[in-house]
Amino acid sequence: MPHTFQQESLPSYLGMALRWLYTLSVALVWGCVVSSSSSSHTTVAPPQDLQITDPGLLGSLDIEWKPPPNVQTFSECTVKYRFEYRNAGDRDWKVIFTRKLKFRVGFDLSRTAEVKVQTLLEGRCTDDVEVQSDWIYATFQVPLQGKLESEVQNFHCVYHDWEYLKCTWQPGLLAPRGVHYGLYYWYEGLGHAVQCDDYIQDHDINIGCILQNLSQAEYKDLSICVNGSAAATLLRPLYVTLRLHNLAKPSPPKQLVVSMSASEELHVAWGPPGGETPPQCLEYEVQLAEDLEEAKAAWASVSTQMETALTISRANQSRISCVRVRGRTSIFCADQGFWSEWTQECFSVSRKEDKQLFILIPVILSLSSSLIIFMLIGQCKKRSPAGKPLHASVGC
Ligand SMILES: *[C@@H]1O[C@H](CO)[C@@H](O)[C@H](O)[C@H]1NC(C)=O
Ligand SMILES: *[C@@H]1O[C@H](CO)[C@@H](O)[C@H](O)[C@H]1NC(C)=O
Ligand SMILES: *[C@@H]1O[C@H](CO)[C@@H](O)[C@H](O)[C@H]1NC(C)=O
Repeated sequence: MPHTFQQESLPSYLGMALRWLYTLSVALVWGCVVSSSSSSHTTVAPPQDLQITDPGLLGSLDIEWKPPPNVQTFSECTVKYRFEYRNAGDRDWKVIFTRKLKFRVGFDLSRTAEVKVQTLLEGRCTDDVEVQSDWIYATFQVPLQGKLESEVQNFHCVYHDWEYLKCTWQPGLLAPRGVHYGLYYWYEGLGHAVQCDDYIQDHDINIGCILQNLSQAEYKDLSICVNGSAAATLLRPLYVTLRLHNLAKPSPPKQLVVSMSASEELHVAWGPPGGETPPQCLEYEVQLAEDLEEAKAAWASVSTQMETALTISRANQSRISCVRVRGRTSIFCADQGFWSEWTQECFSVSRKEDKQLFILIPVILSLSSSLIIFMLIGQCKKRSPAGKPLHASVGC
């Protein structure tokens, strides 16, 4: 009978449930006590022996540290590090979470490099709560020789056609006679810093450098140092970190063709510039000027786009129009870049009445000239008596 079955079995089920509840609560309380005591008392020491060394790569520094002394006791936890770095004067730190003990990161060597590391502990030993140690700090500064005014000025680089980098500078304000400047560079993949081998000179002083074959350095940090020596004076080196794709300047667009349709729309088409510039990285600006000869005309921007063709409806029925196009690296490939020079094409549009005039002029000319010839022949025939040779009356 179902009724009897319920009456008999209910107490045994209840007993089991109660026992299970008791065990659970004891376990919970125990766990709570254990975990609260462990999470409130587990601390971890910061890493040890934080060191910064300069491998001579003009900007990259090696940062190393050792694990905290008591790290083996946390067998049920993972030990990680929060590593932060910046140049003195920067507002924000760059942050790296890692389990590694060594990093190579880039700095501006003309300013002090600052780094800090802390230990992070998380897992069963901390009841899955992240425990952080105190920070340890270190700084580094290359010996900055010479006065600040002896540093080269107006340092400027352009990456032409993604083929060669041209950097130029001017001697420092405190440049002594017989100064000799040198440009050194390094990017990831080169074993050591390399000196420029193609200097631009002015009166035997190096004032620029052309670097070829840098495709391996694209989309990486390129570290550059321009230092100098003079007989008795120490000069301040200049440190710069560049990204080539942000300094690209393409050649002007090629093969600009402008044509006009029957509906008087302008069709403008051009080809990407030559060189190694990736065509998919380019955007173009198109400008139009009408009646350029007249002083009132001005260039007006028509479009900025990635396509290499455009249709422009002509607002003004002017006779002479000019279209010009230039290119630069688009935001899909770079943060910024330089515009190319313009490619320009001018053309004249003949009006309808002009066309009619052009057809009429030859007709009128030929008609009038043949009329004159007939009249002249008539005149000559009247004057010269019959039979006499015509050449006697050359005068008419
Ligand atoms: C360009 O650089 C690569 C290494 O990045 C080198 O193997 C190659 O010989 C260089 N080519 C020229 C023409 O210098
Ligand atoms: C310029 O820097 C390079 C690369 O660090 C170094 O080898 C060279 O001795 C320096 N020259 C001077 C004059 O400081
Ligand atoms: C067309 O003509 C108007 C009035 O003369 C002028 O303001 C405008 O700039 C011209 N447009 C172009 C593209 O030259």
